[in-house]
Amino acid sequence: MTPDETMPVTSVWLTCQQPAREQRRGRYVAKTSTHPGKMLPHLAAHAINAYTAPGDLVFDPMCGAGTTLVEAMHLGRHAIGIDIEPQFTAIAAANVDLALTQAAFGTAKVITGDATQLLDLVPASAVGKVGLVLTSPPYGRGTHGIVKIAGTKVQKHNHLYGDREHGNLAYGGWTRLLEGFATILSASYQLLRPGGTVVITCRPVRRHRDDLIDLPGELLSIAQSVGLLPVQRCAAMLAAVRDGQIVHRANMFGLIAVRRSRADGIPVHLVAHEDVLVLRRC
Ligand SMILES: C[S@@+](CC[C@H](N)C(=O)[O-])C[C@H]1O[C@@H](n2cnc3c(N)ncnc32)[C@H](O)[C@@H]1O
Repeated sequence: MTPDETMPVTSVWLTCQQPAREQRRGRYVAKTSTHPGKMLPHLAAHAINAYTAPGDLVFDPMCGAGTTLVEAMHLGRHAIGIDIEPQFTAIAAANVDLALTQAAFGTAKVITGDATQLLDLVPASAVGKVGLVLTSPPYGRGTHGIVKIAGTKVQKHNHLYGDREHGNLAYGGWTRLLEGFATILSASYQLLRPGGTVVITCRPVRRHRDDLIDLPGELLSIAQSVGLLPVQRCAAMLAAVRDGQIVHRANMFGLIAVRRSRADGIPVHLVAHEDVLVLRRC
């Protein structure tokens, strides 16, 4: 099977023309909002359309609420997803069930477990059969989550990735995240069929106001170190484009952080895209 030849080959993906909640409306169960760091459905769909064909097998070793699986199913692909947090795999399974009621052509299997051990978790029949690994790592122990204003106080909900007692790579710092991701990618390589694609979405992470960590660069080095060949580097928009102008969809925390930094003379910008690293197994 070859990828969809009708897809335009562009390096900027217009993946946020609709707000995220509208992309998910009716297609994802309400509890999906409790996952702190979901991939945009249109980003997942774009990658699946661009790099696989109907009937292909798509794999996400850190599947969270199951975005990769649901979008694969609606596009007639089959999918396997793993996440270490049972609370997230329960949501992913509910999203897969919902897709089945909506006449999605594909099927999906959700597995709870530590993806650093993924070869012990996935069915042996999947080894060498995966056409696309599509994934995004956590960038730290949480995100802004859901924000509520109570009087003068700002309260965050659903902003943490879960249990810090076991192997969740969201905890334990950069070294552990990068080492764990290397182990996951190395095992994922073995699931890929020859010529299969890996798509990693990520963005630089601002640790302190003037300290930007080049996570995409780090992940690219890791991917190359496990034998993957870089073939493309794209930008998936986190903002809309209207009449040639970028319309940002940044959250309140992003806006406040940028305003404060600028007031202090640090020329930071709002993040308007995710880096998309595209690599291939030879
Ligand atoms: C950025 S989120 C992925 C979100 C997902 N793409 C979605 O759309 O919902 C990263 C996920 O990695 C999971 N994770 C962290 N460490 C893991 C590990 N060792 N094995 C499997 N999953 C892990 C977290 O629980 C989290 O759900």
